[in-house]
Amino acid sequence: AIERTLSIIKPDATKRNLTGKINAKFEDAGLRIVAQKRIWLSPAQAGQFYIVHKDRPFYGELVDFMASGPVVVQVLEGENAIAKNREVMGATNPAQADEGTIRKEFALSVGENSVHGSDAPETAKEEIAFYFSGLELVG
Ligand code: CMP
Repeated sequence: AIERTLSIIKPDATKRNLTGKINAKFEDAGLRIVAQKRIWLSPAQAGQFYIVHKDRPFYGELVDFMASGPVVVQVLEGENAIAKNREVMGATNPAQADEGTIRKEFALSVGENSVHGSDAPETAKEEIAFYFSGLELVG
């Protein structure tokens, strides 16, 4: 089915000027960028976005990192977009990511791992609504 998923290009990647290279990976995989904006999250906003991880030991570090510089939030659309995006990203930990994936090529560590992608249809819906209004989604 045609799906939409929420993607974030993280501060480690925007800092190294990798937005275009990462977007090319999405587009080469058949994902269409139907919404996109570059924003700088406050710690409160980053903390809210990642609230499901609030009890994890890395939560504070994750929030500080996500608020440390600009991010590019985007909506990717395509056939099986949620799973396809996860394939293109590669494993969360770049040490375990397959050749050719974004995280294998660009991620610095499990924390500074260049991209985020929704993990399921329900979270995709919530995460898209966190950043975008319906008017901003241009199929
Ligand atoms: P993401 O897909 O954005 O979802 C939660 C994030 O937490 C994950 O990517 C990682 O960047 C981060 N994360 C997971 N495990 C660790 C860890 N051990 N240390 C720091 N950050 C982590």
